[in-house]
Amino acid sequence: MIPFSPPRMDQKIIDEVIDTLKSGWITTGPKTKLFEKKLTAYARHKTTLCVSSGSAGLELMLRWFGVGKGDEVILPAYTYCATANVIIHCGAKPVFVDVNENDFNISVKEIEKAITKKTKVIMPVDLAGFPCDYDEINSLVKKENIRKLFIPKTNEQKSLGRILVLSDAAHSIGAKYKGNKTGSLTDITVYSFHAVKNLTTAEGGAICLNLPKPFNNAEIYKDLNIKSLHGQTKDAYSKVKIGNWRYDIVEAGYKYNMTDVQASMGLVEIDRYDNDMIVKRKQIFDQYAAEFSKYKWAKIPVYETPEKSSSYHAFLLRINGIDEEKRDKIIQSIFDKKVAVNVHFIPLPMMSFYKNLGYDIKNYPVSYKNYSCEISIPVYYNLSKENVQTVVEAVVESVEENI
Ligand SMILES: Cc1ncc(COP(=O)(O)O)c(C=O)c1O
Repeated sequence: MIPFSPPRMDQKIIDEVIDTLKSGWITTGPKTKLFEKKLTAYARHKTTLCVSSGSAGLELMLRWFGVGKGDEVILPAYTYCATANVIIHCGAKPVFVDVNENDFNISVKEIEKAITKKTKVIMPVDLAGFPCDYDEINSLVKKENIRKLFIPKTNEQKSLGRILVLSDAAHSIGAKYKGNKTGSLTDITVYSFHAVKNLTTAEGGAICLNLPKPFNNAEIYKDLNIKSLHGQTKDAYSKVKIGNWRYDIVEAGYKYNMTDVQASMGLVEIDRYDNDMIVKRKQIFDQYAAEFSKYKWAKIPVYETPEKSSSYHAFLLRINGIDEEKRDKIIQSIFDKKVAVNVHFIPLPMMSFYKNLGYDIKNYPVSYKNYSCEISIPVYYNLSKENVQTVVEAVVESVEENI
């Protein structure tokens, strides 16, 4: 069986994790702090806080901005549930909008139509690793008529004076937009290091802070550090230093910290990410694109344009002219040929929880259309050229058996 996306676990990662296990310090400590510094240098935003997951990072930032009851947050209908669930956790309303047909990303035109005086945050998602239209999104929130609609409640909202752009870059570490990497493209960006991600720490995430003046990102980092550790004024690592035991609780914070065991994996991967992981994944994308472009029924995903390059996270192949039922049959045939595939994603308005809240997929026709003919095929570091060929053959045969 060719698996879908196993993590790359080699001796270097094993050695670094063992080094941490033997060091006597396994939770948040020096390795997490070093990983944060490396991430900041990598994407050139202002500062980074590592957390226990991408979901935790997104939720922490919504809460930091004071998002709650009566507020609206705009996000694409086409994303993983984490992007929307964190909005629900905060008591706010997710406002789904449709996506672009060509690249699966949130449509800026649809964002503009969805903005109301209740909108506090826009959460674009770099689907499959391809960056959203950030110049357009960043200019939209600064437009005079849009700024005028914004009603700030908290100090953070007053200081920003406009809608916050919180990008969900769960898939897109290493992707570039006009020469800059995700992490530095919006006010705040959140990465996920979950096991299927390009850069994994088993579970984990990072908040990239890049807030404009008058915000002091270094001070916000300190606040978030406290917020991510139960509102405790000292973390466990500083508390064990001689005589430094006393601490205070300044708020009912969360337990969202990353451990040094997790950070050890990230430390190995970040150092070789651009010259190794990204290179390898791009080769796989290029090979798939070259092979599938021989077939009229295949629609190759956009992954490079003059202004953007993907992190090559997931290859979202579409089959022209098929419906959802036929797509599901093709998927079954591919599995029968011992190749694991997936669908990224079932649009959220199709999920029971969101349907029960009144969302209807009929209002997101492009999301439905993209979803119904989409099959994500394997992409991972150790997928060889021969494996890619096997996947291509399995997909081609399965499509031709079914259409
Ligand atoms: C688009 C998107 N956002 C957020 C997340 C949440 O990341 P995590 O699993 O690290 O919480 C994921 C995870 O798969 C995702 O795909």
